[in-house]
Amino acid sequence: MTAKPAQWRLMTETDLPAVNTLAAAIHPAYPEEAAVFAERLRLYPQGCYVFEHHVKIAAYVVSHPWHDGALPALNALLGGLPAKPSTYYIHDIALLPQVRGLGAAVEIVARLALQARAESLPSLSLIAVNGSAGFWERQGFVPVTDRMLAAKLQSYGADAQFMVRAL
Ligand SMILES: CC(C)(COP(=O)(O)OP(=O)(O)OC[C@H]1O[C@@H](n2cnc3c(N)ncnc32)[C@H](O)[C@@H]1OP(=O)(O)O)[C@@H](O)C(=O)NCCC(=O)NCCS
Repeated sequence: MTAKPAQWRLMTETDLPAVNTLAAAIHPAYPEEAAVFAERLRLYPQGCYVFEHHVKIAAYVVSHPWHDGALPALNALLGGLPAKPSTYYIHDIALLPQVRGLGAAVEIVARLALQARAESLPSLSLIAVNGSAGFWERQGFVPVTDRMLAAKLQSYGADAQFMVRAL
């Protein structure tokens, strides 16, 4: 069977150099070391996808079960996943401009919601950056203000917004 010209598939280790290149190009204001992506993929490969567009990787998503209300700092290793997670955390989603507006982001968010339900987790959560809060609101996320999270949020920049979608 021939592969579709554009589709999400699970990320593999061999995709990591391309993912790092995309991250640096799409998120120059939020630099993260290669070790951060490699660790997420090792800890929770079923939450990491790439979007192939005419044989090139044009987008990625990294996500994993996590503690509700405890945000990983930017560019930090997790060390491990919680034994009793309480939310499904979307660490990052990034699409090159040429694959935006195709519905790819909406499709993968729906897939992550299924993954979270399969893990019996009650919510999706994330930090919206880059003026993306409007996109997340359309996907059912609502902004949550928590003074305890303020310091961690600062590492993501002034416009960073913690958002949660109940499942
Ligand atoms: C944010 C991102 C993932 C959205 O993907 P996309 O393909 O551009 O989104 P879509 O075109 O499918 O948009 C879906 C809906 O959200 C809206 N939308 C998209 N980006 C938006 C934004 N930044 N602000 C407000 N609304 C937005 C669209 O207008 C569309 O609305 P509709 O359903 O009423 O038609 C993508 O633009 C991206 O990778 N941006 C750069 C990296 C980034 O900021 N990632 C988010 C980090 S938290």
